[in-house]
Amino acid sequence: MFGCGHWNRGLFHGAAGLLGLGRGPLSFASQLQSLYGHSFSYCLVDRNSDANVSSKLIFGEDKNLLSHPKLTYTSLVGGKENPADTFYYVEIKSIMVGGEAVDIPAETWKLSPEGAGGTIVDSGTTLSYFADPAYQIIKEAFEKKVKGYPVVNDFPFLEPCYNVSGVEKIELPEFAIVFADGAVWDFPVENYFIQIEPQEIVCLAVLGTPKSGLSIIGNYQQQNFHILYDTKKSRLGYAPMKCADV
Ligand SMILES: *[C@@H]1O[C@H](CO)[C@@H](O)[C@H](O)[C@H]1NC(C)=O
Ligand SMILES: *[C@@H]1O[C@H](CO)[C@@H](O)[C@H](O)[C@H]1NC(C)=O
Repeated sequence: MFGCGHWNRGLFHGAAGLLGLGRGPLSFASQLQSLYGHSFSYCLVDRNSDANVSSKLIFGEDKNLLSHPKLTYTSLVGGKENPADTFYYVEIKSIMVGGEAVDIPAETWKLSPEGAGGTIVDSGTTLSYFADPAYQIIKEAFEKKVKGYPVVNDFPFLEPCYNVSGVEKIELPEFAIVFADGAVWDFPVENYFIQIEPQEIVCLAVLGTPKSGLSIIGNYQQQNFHILYDTKKSRLGYAPMKCADV
């Protein structure tokens, strides 16, 4: 059963509906399990793609994805016991900036038994959020490692921002997430720096959320990865992919 929403709030205010892809029993993905099995995947084209290309949403197994040599899995944690059981939780161990693990206290990433904190992978949140002090520490790591571009201050919402006017090939530190089970997710720079009008400015496209809050790996960071939600094996898969070509 499904229908449209008449009282969609927040960012979705005014939308005719939201396709529920959560873990809960009412979601579209869960209701389709008897037809397509316990997995679905999507591949989001990048934000600067022309309007002709489309992202893909696939219910059931996708053979091309399953045979992709770079498909990596990390465990989904929580689940049924979890109060917020609609979310797909993953467990971060550390964050790498410029090839080095930044020094974030381990408890920052913990999901409490009451369901506070933790990290989810979400298709409906744009930028990623990291709970403090993780956000502050990540930001400072970038500030320390980015050299040679003038800092642009007072840019609303995002920091640090740099003026890359006239720079032919922008070089910024690498960014990766290491999960508790050892899986590593390396991101291309366009997934964590955003070029903003005027085009000469790039900003770190990550936001903070208060200590013990929910950290979110948002859809901007998922661009051009084919992402697999496999609830039967309780794991999340990701493979780098030119989503326009899937
Ligand atoms: C989109 O595709 C159509 C048909 O293939 C083509 O005529 C049009 O130029 C394309 N638009 C862009 C922005 O690429
Ligand atoms: C960026 O740098 C260029 C060249 O120095 C300058 O002309 C431009 O005003 C700067 N832009 C901002 C937003 O600071």
